[in-house]
Amino acid sequence: ECHAIILAGGSGTRLWPLSRNLLPKQLLVLDGEQTLLQQSVARVLELFDPEKIWVVTNDEHVFEVRKQIAEICPNMETQVLSEPVGRNTLPAIMLGLDKVVEANPRAQAAIFPSDHLIGNCQAWGEDIVQASCLAAEKLFVTFGVKPRTPETGYGYITLGKKICDDAFAVDGFVEKPGLEKAEAFLREGSHFWNSGMFLFRAKDFLTQVAKFQPDLWDWWMERDQTSLVQGYRELPNISVDYGVVEKIDNIAVVRAQFDWDDLGSWEALYRIGEKDQNGNVIQGDVLAMDCHNSLLISEGGKLAVVGVENMIMVQTRDATLSCPMEHVQSVRDVVATLKAEG
Ligand code: GDD
Ligand code: MG
Repeated sequence: ECHAIILAGGSGTRLWPLSRNLLPKQLLVLDGEQTLLQQSVARVLELFDPEKIWVVTNDEHVFEVRKQIAEICPNMETQVLSEPVGRNTLPAIMLGLDKVVEANPRAQAAIFPSDHLIGNCQAWGEDIVQASCLAAEKLFVTFGVKPRTPETGYGYITLGKKICDDAFAVDGFVEKPGLEKAEAFLREGSHFWNSGMFLFRAKDFLTQVAKFQPDLWDWWMERDQTSLVQGYRELPNISVDYGVVEKIDNIAVVRAQFDWDDLGSWEALYRIGEKDQNGNVIQGDVLAMDCHNSLLISEGGKLAVVGVENMIMVQTRDATLSCPMEHVQSVRDVVATLKAEG
């Protein structure tokens, strides 16, 4: 038996100003007709029964998340779990695991981000099944994507010995390396991108949490006496990558057969967008004159742009971003700076 935990509480700062605290990336329609969250749930429903799917988000978004899910599958309201406040992916996964082990202490759990674009869902399903077989042998399974570019916004997985055709042992992780390192990884062919999906036996994972995150473990173990939601605010902000995955042995990586894009930057949106004859991707009320290879979006008022190349311009009702394509990763810093300024 395998349950799915879908993480839907991130704030997606790299697509500022379109994605904000109030409307993070997973709740936006970025491609096609459904939001990324709806696409994720629909995909997972192909493999899992609704009562074995747990969606974890935070109080601020729980209403919108339930609404979006109800549009594609009724009666999943109680499958949506809410954190009082975001504490990153590890505490969120622990909330989901509470439900999983309650249903079946021997179950496996598959962790899925809610804000990625996945193509070729059939191949995705086959990879999940393969991972489930590996997890049955007590392996902690990650899903790796062969890198196409020296992306600095992803985690990288260092490949070890081959286990079988499409799976390797894992020698280590490098979370969001600098450009030079990422270029070397690409050249050497020694690393995969970490897709942020995981599959494991719940009890194996919990053993590692007890070992490496004792405070989190104590909080979780008290859940018979008090609700997990109590004390949530005091938990450390820690990702599953830093908190557990990077510390454990016995990890395997399945080479993803599916197409994967994290859509983690404006550059990614430009890449998947439909281009006009000048190579521009244009959305909304935009007048572009003599512009080339640019992403121009307006959701609030007229945006007129003249004579730019390789630019990103995104205008919303109350904020505008203007940024050359090669600086997209700095949008994170913009958001951090704005936050610090209050
Ligand atoms: N419920 C909940 N609560 N979900 C969260 C929280 C939280 O506090 N924080 C993040 N998430 C969700 C996000 O919405 C996303 O779907 C997923 O968890 C991953 O979090 P991100 O914040 O997007 O992580 P990242 O992109 O920086 O890095 C991870 O994903 C990369 C691939 O996209 C890492 O696993 C990297 O190694 C990996 O390459
Ligand atoms: Mg992400």
